[in-house]
Amino acid sequence: MTTAPDPTTSMRTHRCGEVRPEDVGRRVRVCGWVSRRREHGEHLAFVDLRDHTGLVQCVVPGTVDVRSEYVLAVEGVVRARPAGTANPDLATGEVEIQECTVEVLSVAEPPPFAVDDRVDADEHLRIRYRFVDLRRPRMQANLRLRAVINAALRAGMERQGFCEVETPLLWAPTPEGAREFVVPSRLQHGTCYVLPQSPQLAKQLLMVGGMDRYYQIARCLRDEDLRADRQFEFTQLDVEASFVGQEDVLRFVSEAVLDAAERATGTRPSEIERLTWAEAMDRFGTDKPDLRFGMELVDLTAVFAGTEVRALAAPCVKGIVVEGGGETTRSRLDQLTDQARQLGGKGLAWFRVLPTGEGGTGLDGPLARFLTEDDVAGLLVATGAAAGDLVLVVADEHLTVCTVLGRLRVLLGGRPVSEGPYRFAWIVDFPLFEGIDGDGNPVAAHHPFTMPHPDDLDRLESDPTSVRSQSYDLVLNGWELGSGSVRIHRADVQSRIFAVLGIGPEEAESRFGFLLGAFRHGAPPHAGFAVGIDRLVAIFAGEESIREVIAFPKTQSGSDPMTGAPKPVAPRVMADLGLREVPAPE
Ligand code: AMO
Repeated sequence: MTTAPDPTTSMRTHRCGEVRPEDVGRRVRVCGWVSRRREHGEHLAFVDLRDHTGLVQCVVPGTVDVRSEYVLAVEGVVRARPAGTANPDLATGEVEIQECTVEVLSVAEPPPFAVDDRVDADEHLRIRYRFVDLRRPRMQANLRLRAVINAALRAGMERQGFCEVETPLLWAPTPEGAREFVVPSRLQHGTCYVLPQSPQLAKQLLMVGGMDRYYQIARCLRDEDLRADRQFEFTQLDVEASFVGQEDVLRFVSEAVLDAAERATGTRPSEIERLTWAEAMDRFGTDKPDLRFGMELVDLTAVFAGTEVRALAAPCVKGIVVEGGGETTRSRLDQLTDQARQLGGKGLAWFRVLPTGEGGTGLDGPLARFLTEDDVAGLLVATGAAAGDLVLVVADEHLTVCTVLGRLRVLLGGRPVSEGPYRFAWIVDFPLFEGIDGDGNPVAAHHPFTMPHPDDLDRLESDPTSVRSQSYDLVLNGWELGSGSVRIHRADVQSRIFAVLGIGPEEAESRFGFLLGAFRHGAPPHAGFAVGIDRLVAIFAGEESIREVIAFPKTQSGSDPMTGAPKPVAPRVMADLGLREVPAPE
């Protein structure tokens, strides 16, 4: 994808995958890895040579002593392949390089797995031998796409007047909420640096420092459980701007992300649609809705308002329709019921919609016979369910109903995240707090520097969980791609938030004193955002895991089988750092 325009170097005239019929008659020199070697009697050998652009067939008189993955320089004359031997699957398939002389630049041990996209090697082995794995066209394409996306994001931010600033990796705790990686100090025994979970505080300090519009393609580090969309180390397009509000940030980020999408896919997605958090929860049961398919949650609270059926009597009742799901087996329905319970629901009511004319209620299911005719009619009208469909209903507290049905919706209707079309969405008006902790204090949904919604400020102390924040997320195909907020720059509002969060002045000072101190020196109103680049690239690369778009990822267990990290350090290094090994806690 991003290959330098001029292939000529002191070692080669062409890249392997770029030899074409126009070159027939030319003497060329190509360099690369042996993909395959075949002997044709004693007089001729065929060597398929590979580099990042593709393969070319080289015909060598006599025999050659080369094996898979040897590195060669091959010189010869380009000829059209004999009639009937062209390979339509190869870009170089109409030609071959004949009368070749071969120079072995490097010998190679037999590869641990075939360098071939059609061969599915074990992931541990692939990471252990990443330098071989990276030779595969898929990995080459992924890393090059990543570079294209980075360049597009960078250009998008520069065009909008943002200035790139690098922030420290040796830092102090940041308020992102994950466990942190710590680095013991050699010069000050007993103290540690913390690797930043994001440049959050640094970028806010840059605003106090008058940088006005900052961005960075920033490495972030979080010691959290690894999953398909999570690594310890990941990269953000990190953005912050002064004298701006939420709308400005959404515009800046949309512009850069749509640029990247256009470069990656060839088409610019339309304007990014917008949902409030409350709407996303109500309709999709999640704050990261996958908008590629319907199956929206339907409110049935009114239908079952006066129901005698205990299982359906609750403050909130909602349902989803699984079109054509009427055939779902009993054991699968039991499984779904278990899943609903694991997700925090009390249970799951299911109804198969029977073909009309069969009499009865028109619904089948354990609770069907307890429903009144009005219940049935109400349910069918509200959901629009037709014969042959399955309706899943959850009755509980509002948030539980939404969360359970939201998960079941994805489980039953979801598709791989990277499958097109690409449906971005902005989710706005998040609640400021995501609940109440064991000590009765609200828990910040984003971080404690998020500005409350101005219309809700007067309820901060009296009804904190009803307060909306000026924070917003970007979602793509059901994955959270990024998040950001308008920050608090006023000391009085910040003190009120800390008080509500149960963070006393001393704790605030010890955790964030340097930021609060800076704010006393003239803080401009500011707001920002961070886009997870690994996730963005994975989706556009057609990959379901961000590991596939990271050159050297960690395995699920957080190790790197290639380098052996993490590993013990020498006793001398431990002593230098003032560290002593103690038995792990039980
Ligand atoms: P947040 O913590 O939401 O916000 O992170 C922003 C985005 O970074 C990506 N991300 C990850 N990607 C891979 N592996 C991980 N472990 C991981 N953790 C997060 C996600 C996520 O949406 N400082 C704030 C932003 C701001 O307010 O400006 C922040 O970091 O795509």
